[in-house]
Amino acid sequence: MKLSVIGCGYLGAVHAACMAELGHEVVGIDVDATKVTGLSAAQPGLYEPGLVEILARNLANGRLRFTTDYAAAAEAKVHFLGVGTPQKRGENAADLAYVFAALDSLAPYVAPGALVVGKSTVPVGTAATLETRLHEVQPEAALAWNPEFLREGVAVADTISPDRIVYGLPAGDQAELAQALLDEVYAQALAAGTPLVVADYATAELVKVAANAFLATKISFINAMSEIADTVGADVTKLADAIGYDARIGRKFLNAGVGFGGGCLPKDIRAFRARAEELGLSDTLTFLKEVDTINLRQRERVVQLTEEALGGQLMDRRVAVLGLAFKPESDDIRDSPALDVAVRLHGLGAEVACTDPKAIPNAARRHPQLHYVEDTFETLRDAEAVLLLTEWSQYRELQPEALAEVTSGRIVIDGRNVLDPARWRTAGWTYVGIGRS
Ligand code: UDX
Repeated sequence: MKLSVIGCGYLGAVHAACMAELGHEVVGIDVDATKVTGLSAAQPGLYEPGLVEILARNLANGRLRFTTDYAAAAEAKVHFLGVGTPQKRGENAADLAYVFAALDSLAPYVAPGALVVGKSTVPVGTAATLETRLHEVQPEAALAWNPEFLREGVAVADTISPDRIVYGLPAGDQAELAQALLDEVYAQALAAGTPLVVADYATAELVKVAANAFLATKISFINAMSEIADTVGADVTKLADAIGYDARIGRKFLNAGVGFGGGCLPKDIRAFRARAEELGLSDTLTFLKEVDTINLRQRERVVQLTEEALGGQLMDRRVAVLGLAFKPESDDIRDSPALDVAVRLHGLGAEVACTDPKAIPNAARRHPQLHYVEDTFETLRDAEAVLLLTEWSQYRELQPEALAEVTSGRIVIDGRNVLDPARWRTAGWTYVGIGRS
Protein backbone atom coordinates (compact mmCIF):
# COMPACT_ATOMS: atom_id res chain seq x y z
CA MET A 1 0.00 0.00 0.00
CA LYS A 2 1.04 3.59 -0.47
CA LEU A 3 1.28 5.27 2.93
CA SER A 4 2.35 8.64 4.25
CA VAL A 5 3.55 9.28 7.79
CA ILE A 6 3.27 12.87 8.97
CA GLY A 7 5.76 13.78 11.69
CA CYS A 8 9.04 11.88 11.78
CA GLY A 9 10.00 12.06 15.44
CA TYR A 10 10.34 8.95 17.56
CA LEU A 11 6.94 7.52 16.73
CA GLY A 12 6.78 8.65 13.09
CA ALA A 13 10.30 7.62 12.11
CA VAL A 14 9.89 4.15 13.62
CA HIS A 15 6.41 3.75 12.15
CA ALA A 16 7.49 4.83 8.66
CA ALA A 17 10.50 2.50 8.65
CA CYS A 18 8.53 -0.44 10.03
CA MET A 19 5.66 -0.01 7.55
CA ALA A 20 8.21 -0.07 4.71
CA GLU A 21 9.80 -3.14 6.29
CA LEU A 22 6.37 -4.81 6.13
CA GLY A 23 6.29 -4.17 2.36
CA HIS A 24 4.37 -0.90 2.11
CA GLU A 25 5.56 2.07 0.06
CA VAL A 26 6.04 4.89 2.53
CA VAL A 27 6.78 8.59 2.41
CA GLY A 28 7.67 10.24 5.72
CA ILE A 29 6.93 13.97 5.90
CA ASP A 30 8.32 16.39 8.46
CA VAL A 31 8.61 20.18 8.56
CA ASP A 32 12.13 19.87 9.99
CA ALA A 33 14.51 19.78 7.00
CA THR A 34 17.44 18.64 9.16
CA LYS A 35 15.47 15.66 10.40
CA VAL A 36 14.45 14.78 6.84
CA THR A 37 18.05 14.98 5.60
CA GLY A 38 19.20 12.77 8.46
CA LEU A 39 16.48 10.17 7.99
CA SER A 40 17.12 10.13 4.23
CA ALA A 41 20.69 9.11 5.07
CA ALA A 42 19.50 6.49 7.62
CA GLN A 43 20.63 8.75 10.47
CA PRO A 44 17.57 9.11 12.70
CA GLY A 45 19.28 11.34 15.28
CA LEU A 46 18.13 9.04 18.09
CA TYR A 47 19.26 5.68 19.41
CA GLU A 48 16.75 2.91 18.91
CA PRO A 49 18.05 -0.65 18.46
CA GLY A 50 17.49 -1.93 14.90
CA LEU A 51 16.15 1.35 13.51
CA VAL A 52 19.21 2.33 11.48
CA GLU A 53 19.26 -1.08 9.82
CA ILE A 54 15.63 -1.02 8.71
CA LEU A 55 15.90 2.61 7.60
CA ALA A 56 18.96 1.78 5.48
CA ARG A 57 17.42 -1.34 4.01
CA ASN A 58 14.16 0.30 2.98
CA LEU A 59 15.74 3.55 1.74
CA ALA A 60 17.96 1.37 -0.45
CA ASN A 61 15.14 -0.78 -1.83
CA GLY A 62 13.12 2.35 -2.65
CA ARG A 63 10.11 1.60 -0.43
CA LEU A 64 10.91 4.46 1.95
CA ARG A 65 11.68 8.13 1.47
CA PHE A 66 11.48 11.31 3.50
CA THR A 67 10.58 14.84 2.46
CA THR A 68 9.41 18.20 3.79
CA ASP A 69 6.89 18.50 0.96
CA TYR A 70 3.29 17.63 1.92
CA ALA A 71 2.41 17.27 -1.76
CA ALA A 72 4.30 13.96 -1.65
CA ALA A 73 1.39 12.57 0.38
CA ALA A 74 -1.03 12.97 -2.54
CA GLU A 75 -0.63 9.42 -3.85
CA ALA A 76 -0.98 7.71 -0.49
CA LYS A 77 -4.12 5.79 0.40
CA VAL A 78 -3.51 5.92 4.15
CA HIS A 79 -1.93 8.84 6.02
CA PHE A 80 -0.63 8.40 9.56
CA LEU A 81 -0.40 11.37 11.91
CA GLY A 82 2.54 10.78 14.24
CA VAL A 83 3.40 14.27 15.45
CA GLY A 84 4.18 15.05 19.07
CA THR A 85 1.70 16.23 21.71
CA PRO A 86 4.04 17.69 24.34
CA GLN A 87 2.97 19.13 27.67
CA LYS A 88 2.05 22.81 27.37
CA ARG A 89 4.56 25.11 29.01
CA GLY A 90 3.44 25.88 32.56
CA GLU A 91 0.30 23.71 32.24
CA ASN A 92 -0.64 20.07 32.59
CA ALA A 93 -2.61 19.90 29.33
CA ALA A 94 -1.24 18.53 26.06
CA ASP A 95 -0.30 20.95 23.32
CA LEU A 96 -2.25 19.99 20.19
CA ALA A 97 -0.81 22.68 17.93
CA TYR A 98 1.31 20.20 15.96
CA VAL A 99 -1.56 17.79 15.44
CA PHE A 100 -3.86 20.47 14.06
CA ALA A 101 -1.10 21.99 11.92
CA ALA A 102 -0.26 18.56 10.47
CA LEU A 103 -3.91 17.80 9.64
CA ASP A 104 -4.42 21.22 8.04
CA SER A 105 -1.27 20.89 5.91
CA LEU A 106 -2.16 17.35 4.88
CA ALA A 107 -5.88 17.78 4.16
CA PRO A 108 -5.54 19.38 0.67
CA TYR A 109 -3.59 16.30 -0.48
CA VAL A 110 -5.98 13.66 0.89
CA ALA A 111 -7.82 11.95 -1.98
CA PRO A 112 -11.47 10.87 -1.91
CA GLY A 113 -11.64 7.36 -0.45
CA ALA A 114 -8.36 7.79 1.45
CA LEU A 115 -7.92 7.45 5.21
CA VAL A 116 -6.21 9.65 7.79
CA VAL A 117 -5.10 7.68 10.85
CA GLY A 118 -4.22 9.42 14.10
CA LYS A 119 -1.50 7.71 16.14
CA SER A 120 -0.43 10.54 18.45
CA THR A 121 -1.48 10.42 22.11
CA VAL A 122 -4.27 12.99 22.39
CA PRO A 123 -6.92 14.12 24.86
CA VAL A 124 -10.21 12.32 24.34
CA GLY A 125 -12.37 14.27 21.89
CA THR A 126 -9.54 15.31 19.58
CA ALA A 127 -10.31 12.77 16.84
CA ALA A 128 -13.87 14.07 16.43
CA THR A 129 -12.54 17.62 16.02
CA LEU A 130 -9.98 16.47 13.48
CA GLU A 131 -12.63 14.59 11.52
CA THR A 132 -14.72 17.76 11.21
CA ARG A 133 -11.65 19.66 10.09
CA LEU A 134 -10.75 17.01 7.51
CA HIS A 135 -14.29 16.90 6.13
CA GLU A 136 -14.31 20.66 5.61
CA VAL A 137 -11.58 20.09 3.01
CA GLN A 138 -12.20 16.49 1.89
CA PRO A 139 -15.60 15.09 2.88
CA GLU A 140 -15.00 11.82 1.05
CA ALA A 141 -11.97 10.82 3.11
CA ALA A 142 -12.28 9.05 6.45
CA LEU A 143 -10.47 9.47 9.76
CA ALA A 144 -9.64 6.71 12.24
CA TRP A 145 -7.78 6.61 15.58
CA ASN A 146 -5.17 3.90 16.01
CA PRO A 147 -3.08 4.45 19.14
CA GLU A 148 0.53 3.38 19.30
CA PHE A 149 1.92 1.44 22.27
CA LEU A 150 5.57 1.20 21.30
CA ARG A 151 8.15 1.21 24.05
CA GLU A 152 11.44 2.96 23.46
CA GLY A 153 14.29 0.49 23.22
CA VAL A 154 12.05 -2.18 21.63
CA ALA A 155 10.11 0.15 19.35
CA VAL A 156 10.87 -1.74 16.12
CA ALA A 157 9.65 -5.07 17.47
CA ASP A 158 6.63 -3.40 19.11
CA THR A 159 5.62 -1.84 15.77
CA ILE A 160 6.16 -4.91 13.59
CA SER A 161 4.61 -7.34 16.08
CA PRO A 162 2.36 -5.30 18.40
CA ASP A 163 0.72 -7.03 21.36
CA ARG A 164 -2.65 -5.61 20.34
CA ILE A 165 -4.14 -3.33 17.68
CA VAL A 166 -6.89 -0.83 18.43
CA TYR A 167 -9.06 0.86 15.80
CA GLY A 168 -11.18 3.86 16.69
CA LEU A 169 -13.58 4.02 13.77
CA PRO A 170 -15.83 6.87 12.60
CA ALA A 171 -19.46 6.76 13.63
CA GLY A 172 -21.03 6.97 10.18
CA ASP A 173 -20.87 4.91 7.01
CA GLN A 174 -17.16 5.65 6.56
CA ALA A 175 -16.41 3.03 9.24
CA GLU A 176 -16.30 0.24 6.67
CA LEU A 177 -13.82 2.08 4.45
CA ALA A 178 -11.62 2.88 7.47
CA GLN A 179 -11.61 -0.69 8.75
CA ALA A 180 -10.89 -2.17 5.32
CA LEU A 181 -7.88 0.09 4.82
CA LEU A 182 -6.54 -0.49 8.34
CA ASP A 183 -6.94 -4.27 7.90
CA GLU A 184 -4.84 -4.01 4.75
CA VAL A 185 -2.12 -1.98 6.52
CA TYR A 186 -1.91 -4.47 9.39
CA ALA A 187 -2.60 -7.62 7.33
CA GLN A 188 0.55 -9.37 8.53
CA ALA A 189 0.03 -8.78 12.25
CA LEU A 190 -3.66 -9.67 11.99
CA ALA A 191 -2.87 -12.90 10.13
CA ALA A 192 -0.46 -13.76 12.96
CA GLY A 193 -3.37 -13.57 15.40
CA THR A 194 -2.66 -10.20 17.03
CA PRO A 195 -5.70 -9.26 19.15
CA LEU A 196 -7.77 -6.51 17.53
CA VAL A 197 -10.11 -4.22 19.42
CA VAL A 198 -12.51 -2.30 17.19
CA ALA A 199 -14.05 0.69 18.93
CA ASP A 200 -15.16 4.30 18.51
CA TYR A 201 -12.90 7.37 18.54
CA ALA A 202 -13.30 8.16 22.24
CA THR A 203 -12.52 4.62 23.37
CA ALA A 204 -9.45 4.39 21.15
CA GLU A 205 -8.14 7.73 22.42
CA LEU A 206 -8.77 6.70 26.02
CA VAL A 207 -7.13 3.26 25.65
CA LYS A 208 -3.74 4.89 25.21
CA VAL A 209 -3.89 7.29 28.14
CA ALA A 210 -5.56 4.68 30.34
CA ALA A 211 -2.76 2.19 29.59
CA ASN A 212 -0.06 4.72 30.44
CA ALA A 213 -1.91 5.91 33.55
CA PHE A 214 -2.21 2.31 34.74
CA LEU A 215 1.50 1.61 34.17
CA ALA A 216 2.48 4.81 35.97
CA THR A 217 0.18 3.92 38.87
CA LYS A 218 1.74 0.47 39.14
CA ILE A 219 5.22 1.97 39.39
CA SER A 220 4.19 4.59 41.95
CA PHE A 221 2.33 1.94 43.95
CA ILE A 222 5.46 -0.14 44.32
CA ASN A 223 7.54 2.96 45.04
CA ALA A 224 5.12 3.86 47.83
CA MET A 225 5.57 0.30 49.16
CA SER A 226 9.32 0.85 49.01
CA GLU A 227 9.01 3.85 51.33
CA ILE A 228 7.11 1.73 53.83
CA ALA A 229 9.63 -1.08 53.39
CA ASP A 230 12.53 1.26 54.17
CA THR A 231 10.84 2.43 57.34
CA VAL A 232 9.98 -1.00 58.69
CA GLY A 233 13.03 -2.89 57.42
CA ALA A 234 11.23 -4.94 54.76
CA ASP A 235 12.40 -5.83 51.24
CA VAL A 236 10.26 -4.38 48.43
CA THR A 237 11.74 -6.64 45.72
CA LYS A 238 10.61 -9.75 47.60
CA LEU A 239 7.27 -8.08 48.22
CA ALA A 240 6.95 -7.42 44.45
CA ASP A 241 7.91 -11.02 43.66
CA ALA A 242 5.34 -12.34 46.08
CA ILE A 243 2.43 -10.16 44.97
CA GLY A 244 3.52 -10.52 41.34
CA TYR A 245 2.90 -14.28 41.42
CA ASP A 246 -0.77 -13.40 41.69
CA ALA A 247 -1.75 -13.43 38.01
CA ARG A 248 -4.26 -10.69 38.69
CA ILE A 249 -1.41 -8.40 39.74
CA GLY A 250 1.55 -9.58 37.64
CA ARG A 251 5.24 -8.89 38.31
CA LYS A 252 5.86 -6.48 35.39
CA PHE A 253 6.16 -2.76 36.16
CA LEU A 254 6.61 -3.48 39.85
CA ASN A 255 10.26 -2.51 40.02
CA ALA A 256 10.81 0.11 42.69
CA GLY A 257 13.53 2.66 42.12
CA VAL A 258 14.18 6.19 41.03
CA GLY A 259 10.84 6.22 39.20
CA PHE A 260 9.42 6.67 35.74
CA GLY A 261 10.37 9.27 33.16
CA GLY A 262 10.49 9.58 29.40
CA GLY A 263 8.45 11.34 26.77
CA CYS A 264 5.16 9.57 27.57
CA LEU A 265 4.24 8.47 31.09
CA PRO A 266 4.84 11.77 32.95
CA LYS A 267 3.19 14.03 30.39
CA ASP A 268 0.35 11.61 29.66
CA ILE A 269 -0.82 11.35 33.26
CA ARG A 270 -0.77 15.15 33.57
CA ALA A 271 -2.66 15.68 30.31
CA PHE A 272 -5.20 13.01 31.27
CA ARG A 273 -5.90 14.81 34.54
CA ALA A 274 -6.21 18.15 32.74
CA ARG A 275 -8.69 16.62 30.29
CA ALA A 276 -10.76 15.11 33.11
CA GLU A 277 -10.98 18.56 34.70
CA GLU A 278 -12.17 20.04 31.40
CA LEU A 279 -14.83 17.35 31.30
CA GLY A 280 -16.05 18.43 34.74
CA LEU A 281 -14.54 15.35 36.41
CA SER A 282 -11.99 17.09 38.62
CA ASP A 283 -12.17 14.45 41.36
CA THR A 284 -12.03 11.41 39.11
CA LEU A 285 -8.31 11.39 38.39
CA THR A 286 -6.91 13.17 41.42
CA PHE A 287 -5.11 9.92 42.28
CA LEU A 288 -2.90 10.56 39.24
CA LYS A 289 -1.60 13.69 40.96
CA GLU A 290 -0.51 11.46 43.82
CA VAL A 291 1.06 9.03 41.33
CA ASP A 292 3.04 11.96 39.93
CA THR A 293 4.02 13.21 43.41
CA ILE A 294 5.22 9.78 44.58
CA ASN A 295 7.22 9.46 41.38
CA LEU A 296 8.96 12.82 41.77
CA ARG A 297 9.58 12.14 45.48
CA GLN A 298 11.68 9.12 44.51
CA ARG A 299 14.25 11.41 42.93
CA GLU A 300 14.53 13.47 46.08
CA ARG A 301 14.71 10.26 48.10
CA VAL A 302 17.70 9.00 46.13
CA VAL A 303 19.44 12.33 46.73
CA GLN A 304 18.70 12.04 50.47
CA LEU A 305 19.90 8.44 50.61
CA THR A 306 23.14 9.54 48.98
CA GLU A 307 23.56 12.37 51.43
CA GLU A 308 22.89 10.08 54.40
CA ALA A 309 25.29 7.45 53.09
CA LEU A 310 27.95 10.15 52.82
CA GLY A 311 27.45 11.12 56.47
CA GLY A 312 25.05 14.01 55.85
CA GLN A 313 27.33 16.10 53.68
CA LEU A 314 27.18 16.48 49.88
CA MET A 315 29.26 19.62 49.40
CA ASP A 316 32.46 18.82 47.48
CA ARG A 317 31.87 15.07 47.75
CA ARG A 318 32.82 13.02 44.69
CA VAL A 319 29.85 11.12 43.32
CA ALA A 320 29.72 8.91 40.21
CA VAL A 321 26.39 8.58 38.36
CA LEU A 322 25.90 5.55 36.10
CA GLY A 323 23.12 6.16 33.61
CA LEU A 324 21.44 9.31 32.30
CA ALA A 325 18.78 8.02 29.91
CA PHE A 326 15.25 7.53 31.28
CA LYS A 327 15.60 3.79 30.61
CA PRO A 328 18.23 1.44 29.15
CA GLU A 329 18.62 0.95 25.37
CA SER A 330 17.61 4.54 24.77
CA ASP A 331 19.40 7.88 24.49
CA ASP A 332 16.22 9.72 25.50
CA ILE A 333 16.67 12.05 28.47
CA ARG A 334 13.21 13.59 28.46
CA ASP A 335 12.06 13.80 32.08
CA SER A 336 14.79 11.33 32.99
CA PRO A 337 14.95 10.57 36.73
CA ALA A 338 18.65 9.68 36.42
CA LEU A 339 19.61 13.00 34.89
CA ASP A 340 17.40 14.86 37.36
CA VAL A 341 19.18 13.22 40.31
CA ALA A 342 22.59 14.07 38.81
CA VAL A 343 21.52 17.71 38.38
CA ARG A 344 20.16 17.88 41.95
CA LEU A 345 23.37 16.44 43.41
CA HIS A 346 25.42 18.92 41.41
CA GLY A 347 23.14 21.72 42.62
CA LEU A 348 23.80 20.67 46.20
CA GLY A 349 27.53 21.06 45.73
CA ALA A 350 28.61 17.49 45.01
CA GLU A 351 31.30 16.87 42.41
CA VAL A 352 29.32 14.73 40.03
CA ALA A 353 30.88 12.65 37.26
CA CYS A 354 28.29 10.99 35.09
CA THR A 355 28.20 8.55 32.24
CA ASP A 356 25.83 6.69 29.95
CA PRO A 357 26.46 4.43 26.96
CA LYS A 358 24.25 6.51 24.64
CA ALA A 359 22.74 9.57 26.31
CA ILE A 360 25.79 11.79 27.01
CA PRO A 361 25.35 14.05 23.93
CA ASN A 362 21.67 14.72 24.71
CA ALA A 363 22.35 15.23 28.43
CA ALA A 364 25.30 17.55 27.76
CA ARG A 365 23.19 19.73 25.49
CA ARG A 366 20.52 20.08 28.16
CA HIS A 367 22.81 20.33 31.20
CA PRO A 368 26.27 21.51 30.17
CA GLN A 369 27.14 22.19 33.82
CA LEU A 370 27.60 18.48 34.57
CA HIS A 371 30.87 16.62 34.11
CA TYR A 372 30.42 13.86 31.54
CA VAL A 373 32.84 10.97 31.12
CA GLU A 374 32.64 8.36 28.36
CA ASP A 375 34.45 5.54 30.09
CA THR A 376 32.68 3.81 32.99
CA PHE A 377 35.82 3.20 35.05
CA GLU A 378 37.04 6.77 34.51
CA THR A 379 33.66 7.98 35.78
CA LEU A 380 34.14 5.89 38.89
CA ARG A 381 37.70 6.98 39.56
CA ASP A 382 38.07 8.29 43.12
CA ALA A 383 34.30 8.41 43.65
CA GLU A 384 33.18 8.32 47.27
CA ALA A 385 29.72 7.05 46.29
CA VAL A 386 28.45 5.32 43.15
CA LEU A 387 24.84 5.73 42.00
CA LEU A 388 23.33 3.29 39.50
CA LEU A 389 20.35 5.17 38.03
CA THR A 390 19.67 3.62 34.60
CA GLU A 391 19.91 -0.16 34.54
CA TRP A 392 22.00 -0.67 31.40
CA SER A 393 23.26 -4.27 31.36
CA GLN A 394 26.90 -3.16 31.56
CA TYR A 395 26.17 -1.49 34.92
CA ARG A 396 24.17 -4.40 36.26
CA GLU A 397 27.12 -6.65 35.55
CA LEU A 398 29.75 -4.53 37.30
CA GLN A 399 31.92 -6.52 39.70
CA PRO A 400 32.15 -4.95 43.17
CA GLU A 401 35.74 -6.21 43.58
CA ALA A 402 36.89 -4.55 40.34
CA LEU A 403 35.11 -1.29 41.16
CA ALA A 404 36.66 -1.04 44.59
CA GLU A 405 40.05 -0.68 42.93
CA VAL A 406 39.11 2.61 41.26
CA THR A 407 36.70 4.25 43.70
CA SER A 408 37.87 5.89 46.89
CA GLY A 409 34.74 5.03 48.88
CA ARG A 410 32.67 1.87 48.94
CA ILE A 411 29.15 3.16 48.88
CA VAL A 412 26.76 2.04 46.15
CA ILE A 413 23.27 3.51 45.77
CA ASP A 414 21.29 1.09 43.63
CA GLY A 415 18.58 3.38 42.25
CA ARG A 416 17.05 0.55 40.22
CA ASN A 417 17.32 -2.36 42.67
CA VAL A 418 19.21 -4.45 40.14
CA LEU A 419 22.37 -5.36 42.08
CA ASP A 420 22.74 -8.28 44.47
CA PRO A 421 23.01 -6.68 47.94
CA ALA A 422 24.66 -9.74 49.53
CA ARG A 423 27.35 -9.87 46.86
CA TRP A 424 28.21 -6.15 47.25
CA ARG A 425 28.15 -6.26 51.03
CA THR A 426 30.41 -9.31 51.07
CA ALA A 427 32.85 -7.38 48.89
CA GLY A 428 32.97 -4.68 51.56
CA TRP A 429 30.50 -2.19 50.14
CA THR A 430 27.77 -0.25 51.87
CA TYR A 431 24.81 -1.20 49.68
CA VAL A 432 21.78 1.12 49.62
CA GLY A 433 18.77 0.01 47.57
CA ILE A 434 15.29 1.50 47.34
CA GLY A 435 13.09 -0.21 49.91
CA ARG A 436 15.55 -3.03 50.50
CA SER A 437 16.79 -2.13 53.93
C1 UDX B 1 5.66 3.89 27.60
C2 UDX B 1 4.65 2.76 27.46
O1 UDX B 1 5.18 1.57 28.06
C3 UDX B 1 4.36 2.52 25.99
O2 UDX B 1 3.38 1.51 25.83
C4 UDX B 1 3.86 3.82 25.38
O3 UDX B 1 3.64 3.68 24.00
C5 UDX B 1 4.86 4.94 25.61
O4 UDX B 1 5.15 5.06 27.00
P1 UDX B 1 8.30 4.11 27.31
O5 UDX B 1 8.15 5.56 27.65
O6 UDX B 1 9.19 3.70 26.18
O7 UDX B 1 6.87 3.46 26.99
O8 UDX B 1 8.88 3.41 28.61
P2 UDX B 1 8.45 2.26 29.64
O9 UDX B 1 9.14 1.01 29.29
O10 UDX B 1 6.99 2.22 29.82
O11 UDX B 1 9.13 2.84 30.96
C6 UDX B 1 8.73 4.12 31.47
C7 UDX B 1 9.51 4.49 32.69
O12 UDX B 1 9.12 3.68 33.79
C8 UDX B 1 11.03 4.33 32.59
O13 UDX B 1 11.64 5.46 33.15
C9 UDX B 1 11.31 3.09 33.39
O14 UDX B 1 12.61 3.10 33.93
C10 UDX B 1 10.26 3.19 34.48
N1 UDX B 1 9.90 1.92 35.11
C11 UDX B 1 9.37 0.89 34.37
C12 UDX B 1 10.07 1.76 36.49
O15 UDX B 1 10.53 2.66 37.18
N2 UDX B 1 9.70 0.56 37.07
C13 UDX B 1 9.17 -0.45 36.37
O16 UDX B 1 8.86 -1.49 36.96
C14 UDX B 1 9.00 -0.30 34.97
